[in-house]
Amino acid sequence: MEVELTNPIYRIIGQEADRMGVRAFAVGGVVRDYFLKRHCTDIDVVCVGSGIELAKASAAAISPHKEVAVFKSFGTASFHYHHDGQDWQIEFVGARKESYRADSRKPIVENGTIEDDQNRRDFTINAMAVSINEDTFGQLVDPFGGISDLHNGILRTPLDPDITFSDDPLRMMRAIRFASQLNFEIEAKTFEAISRNVDRIHIVSRERITTELNKIVLSPRPSVGFKLLMKTRLLQAIFPEMARLKGVDTREGRSHKDNFYHTLDVVDHVAEQSDDLWLRWAAVLHDIGKPATKRFDSKQGWTFHGHEVKGAKMVKKIFTNLRLPLDGKMKYVEKLVQLHLRPIILAEDEVTDSAVRRLLFDAGDDIDDLMTLCEADITSKNEIKVKRYLDNFKLVRQKLVELEEKDRIRNFQPPVSGEDIMTTFGIKPCREIGIIKDAIKDAILDGKIPNDRESAWTMMMEIAESLGLTPVK
Ligand code: CTP
Repeated sequence: MEVELTNPIYRIIGQEADRMGVRAFAVGGVVRDYFLKRHCTDIDVVCVGSGIELAKASAAAISPHKEVAVFKSFGTASFHYHHDGQDWQIEFVGARKESYRADSRKPIVENGTIEDDQNRRDFTINAMAVSINEDTFGQLVDPFGGISDLHNGILRTPLDPDITFSDDPLRMMRAIRFASQLNFEIEAKTFEAISRNVDRIHIVSRERITTELNKIVLSPRPSVGFKLLMKTRLLQAIFPEMARLKGVDTREGRSHKDNFYHTLDVVDHVAEQSDDLWLRWAAVLHDIGKPATKRFDSKQGWTFHGHEVKGAKMVKKIFTNLRLPLDGKMKYVEKLVQLHLRPIILAEDEVTDSAVRRLLFDAGDDIDDLMTLCEADITSKNEIKVKRYLDNFKLVRQKLVELEEKDRIRNFQPPVSGEDIMTTFGIKPCREIGIIKDAIKDAILDGKIPNDRESAWTMMMEIAESLGLTPVK
């Protein structure tokens, strides 16, 4: 089979390989993505010889001063190439007998054949190579049937999966990540090997694991990946808090819903609306506090009181364990988890202006994301109930727009500052300032006074008087 390689860089490298008398191939992700018609600007080149020498020769052929990054201990080299308005990263490596691993600590055994190299890659769909030497330019080398696996949507290791996964246990995560990204099946033997080797995931760094986990969260239907993580028991190993959501308890004939599958529905719904990684994480974590707050009593049945507060408190530890950033992103996820019930409670009741203003005040600029999360959270099978909620949400959204326009609550700035109060009454920082400011804020949120300086000033004077304060002349 012929592969149409349009980027001129392939010809340039091919000519240098011919000059050096070595065989060279484009390999791995770039070949897979060519057939999947996925955009890819990372090109891996394998040569049967020195990858570093081929990289240097190719760079020199482009321009005498072109920079090449050489990683001698890994036996790799790379450079950037500009083509078609894009920055392509070209990475070179010599064919290896040992497993391919970007960060391998094992000695690198070069001088393998192209088949040796393909053998030691993770999946058949990632083990295809395309020749770039002049005589065979564009010819596909596919010893394991990668093309047919791509066609049938199958993930399978080229070698015995126990060997492939023991070479690099991260590949177990990669299998599930690709299954989730591409909606592929993991072939039975490969799947069984993951289940068998789960414990070996602990030798992989958490950062690498989380890179894959984030790709699952960002995939079109993250539930595909999470279900596989659960089924293989990898989830229990890397993210036990989420695994604990699974299961249904029944007492006195009453059962609660399975919070794991409910969470997956919510994550998939959010994924239909947004590609934002952190909004998706908020969906993953929105009910994470449920197992810890679960109670049963005969009157109310199953309850999860305070699970949003408990859940928000769990976010930091989970982010720490997963090596996710402990910055504004984490705060955002905490906030959404903490507030995720508010619009629902609001929609269950009468949608009053003051409740909507308070919601706006607490959510600030994240209000739209919060609404997206809450709408996704309505997963009842009862269509009438769903319709009623969604209709009420429409009303909430409409009011949010109206009230924001009128009252500008989203980025609320007190119309009378502490400084104003201190200078007007000639006082130092004290409790009364807080009392006055809170009263004004509450009056605005309750719609008792408009959000403007004049009204707030009048109110400040009234409250101050009742507190026994008098203005300085
Ligand atoms: N590879 C491997 N085992 C790994 C990582 C990578 O065998 N643990 C091989 C595969 O052949 C893969 C290639 O190295 O196709 C490039 O890896 P990488 O750039 O990490 O990923 P891609 O497969 O290109 O996928 P993506 O760009 O989606 O991360």
